[in-house]
Amino acid sequence: MPGAIQAEGLVKTFGDVKALDGVDLEVPEGTVLGLLGPNGAGKTTTVRCLTTLLRPDSGRAVVAGIDVLKHPDAVRRSIGLSGQFAAVDEYLTGRENLQMVGQLYQMRAKAARARADELLEQFHLADAADRTAKTYSGGMRRRLDLAAALVVSPPVMFMDEPTTGLDPRNRQQLWDVIKDLVSGGTTLLLTTQYLEEADHLAHDIAVVDQGKVIAQGTSDQLKARTGGERVEVVVHDREHIRTAAALLDKYSLRGLGQGDTTVEEHMRKITTPVSGGAKLLAEIIRELDAEGIEIDDIGLRRPTLDDVFLSLTGHVAESAQSEHEEAAK
Ligand SMILES: Nc1ncnc2c1ncn2[C@@H]1O[C@H](COP(=O)(O)OP(=O)(O)OP(=O)(O)O)[C@@H](O)[C@H]1O
Ligand SMILES: [Mg+2]
Repeated sequence: MPGAIQAEGLVKTFGDVKALDGVDLEVPEGTVLGLLGPNGAGKTTTVRCLTTLLRPDSGRAVVAGIDVLKHPDAVRRSIGLSGQFAAVDEYLTGRENLQMVGQLYQMRAKAARARADELLEQFHLADAADRTAKTYSGGMRRRLDLAAALVVSPPVMFMDEPTTGLDPRNRQQLWDVIKDLVSGGTTLLLTTQYLEEADHLAHDIAVVDQGKVIAQGTSDQLKARTGGERVEVVVHDREHIRTAAALLDKYSLRGLGQGDTTVEEHMRKITTPVSGGAKLLAEIIRELDAEGIEIDDIGLRRPTLDDVFLSLTGHVAESAQSEHEEAAK
C-alpha cells in the first residue's frame, strides 16, 4: 500500500543554515509516525514542507496521494495541521473559532455549527465554548487548536509538538484524543521532543538530527539497535561484590562491543549486559542464592528511548522537565 505521506530527499536552506539535508520519510496509511529530534533538528521545517507552507529547494513529497509541489491546493484540502504555535484567534470564542474554520472550508453555516458543537464536546471544551480563547489556559488552547484541525475530518493529520508545555494530566488527555483519532483511520505525523510521547503514540519513530533522518523503526527496533538488556544487581554486603561480579560476568555478552560487567563500589551495584530476559534473571538469582550472596535488589533493565537518542546523536534529548521550566518562564 502506498504511504499516505511520502517524502524523498527534501532539502531546505535558509541563508547558510541547511535546515533539511535530504529528508526521506514514508508513513503507511492509518499509522502514526513520530518525528523525534532536538531543538533545531528540522522537525517544523519538514512539517511545513509537507503541508505546503514552505517550498523545499529540492526533493519531492506526496501526501494523501497528491503531489505536494504540483497541487498544493488539493493537498491543503486533504490535511489537517495543528501547529507548534497555535492558530487560534484570541478574540473569538472557542465555538466561533471552530465555526470559522468550517466556513473557510465552505461548509454551510448549519453544518459548521453542528461540527463545532461535536468537537467542543469531544475536546472537553463545551463549558468554555462561549468564552473568548484569550481566557483559555494553555491546555485548552492546545485542545482548541487540535479541534480546529479536525473540523473537516482530514484523512492525513500533521501535529507539530502537540503537547509541548502541557502538564502531565493535560498531556495524557490529549494522548487519548490522538489515539481515538488514529483508531478512526487517520494517518498522523507528529513531531515531539518527548521520547515518552513517541514511545506511547507512534507506530514508527524517525529520529531527526541536523536535517537528516538518522534512524527509523519501531520503538523496540530502535532500542534493540542501541544494545540489549542488562542485569543490575545490588548486593547487601560490600564483601560480596567481587564474588557476585565474577558470577555475573559468566552471563555477560562478550565480543559485542557493549562492555562487560561493571562495578559501582559505593552503590554495591553490578551491571552486566545479557540476553535471555527473565529466564536468565531467575537463574542468576538461584546462583547468587547458592553462593550465599544476599541481594538488596536485582532487575532487568532494557534500553529506553533516551539511551537510543543518546547513542544515535551523541547528546541527550530535551527532557520534559526543562521544557516545563521553559514554559513557566
Ligand atoms: N524561517 C527561517 N529562517 C531562518 N532559519 C530558519 C527558519 N526556519 C527554521 N530555520 C532554521 O532551520 C533549522 C531547523 O529549524 P526547525 O524549526 O525545523 O527545527 P525544529 O526541529 O522544529 O526545532 P524545535 O524543536 O525547536 O521546534 C534551525 O537551525 C532553524 O534555526
Ligand atoms: Mg519545531
